Amino acid sequence: MKTRITELFGIEHPIIQGGMHYVGFAELAAAVSNAGGLGIITGLTQKTPELLAKEIARCREMTDKPFGVNLTFLPTVSSPDYPGYIRAIIEGGVKVVETAGNNPQKVLPVLQGAGIKVIHKCTSVRHSLKAEAIGCDAVSVDGFECGGHPGEDDIPNFILLPRAAEELKIPFVASGGMADGRSLVAAMALGAEGMNMGTRFIATKEAPVHENVKQAIVAASELDTRLVMRPLRNTERVLRNAAVDRLLEKEKTLGAELKFEDIIEEVAGVYPKIMLEGTMDAGAWSCGMVAGLIHDVPTCKELIDRIMSEADAIIRQRLGGFLAA
Ligand SMILES: Cc1cc2nc3c(=O)[nH]c(=O)nc-3n(C[C@H](O)[C@H](O)[C@H](O)COP(=O)(O)O)c2cc1C
Repeated sequence: MKTRITELFGIEHPIIQGGMHYVGFAELAAAVSNAGGLGIITGLTQKTPELLAKEIARCREMTDKPFGVNLTFLPTVSSPDYPGYIRAIIEGGVKVVETAGNNPQKVLPVLQGAGIKVIHKCTSVRHSLKAEAIGCDAVSVDGFECGGHPGEDDIPNFILLPRAAEELKIPFVASGGMADGRSLVAAMALGAEGMNMGTRFIATKEAPVHENVKQAIVAASELDTRLVMRPLRNTERVLRNAAVDRLLEKEKTLGAELKFEDIIEEVAGVYPKIMLEGTMDAGAWSCGMVAGLIHDVPTCKELIDRIMSEADAIIRQRLGGFLAA
């Protein structure tokens, strides 16, 4: 399949694996890229720029295909060494950066000056237009369904994607709720030129996370996610568990008085315990409603091949059949 996204990133299939904290290690990024998609290493999961440089080198040993690095600009307690991470990305010869969170304007000249294409993840049309205006090469439009941070506007992709298509000139991918060939064809019908998946890629053989995480996603239905940290305007969609119930209870009790310190136990530093050790109730971890569409743990190649052949059959047979009738 050829779209402006496959052309921009030099990939075979218009499928991107979004950056994911403690999931986006070299193993997953390389597996997605080897399968013809665009794999992405999560920059900030590596504690220092030196460790990110090593992770990039490890990924390059596992694939000769293009892969990217995610740089998330989120409100954190202490600001990471962004210039150092950017140096590691440039010196590592990475050609794609997925930015997310705050406006990436400051880092664009240095990244693009090094020949890097920048795709910014946005949860609204106005942020997408801002990304276009500051010169991003593409955007990833993240609907309300998504795992992680859906923003505060709560617009699902059935509205958000065609709205983005009405306004944007640069290419965009659909993100949030994407799982299979149906998602890809639907996203493209709504104006996207590819799709970005998070949760779906966690439940793959190569995702270097504990088996418990993959099984929790397979077991979950579309009813099992919750929104946390809404009172702090830092909303995150997570899988419901004991820690999330406790967190929501605190939000209810404290109301407008809630501070980050009140919920620190449920949200800070929990990812290694969940993703690496498989302690599923250790805290709140991002997961999309799309869990309801995930029923197996294939390899990345099986998953991507299946998506592409499903998409082909939907376009040529199902949709084409309606026209022929
Ligand atoms: C466990 C997990 C961790 C994530 N961590 C990040 C992150 O560190 N930075 C980021 O930009 N997005 C992060 N995301 C969001 C994904 O990149 C992607 O945008 C989102 O998962 C898409 O929605 P989906 O899960 O419905 O596919 C994370 C998502 C999940 C599920």
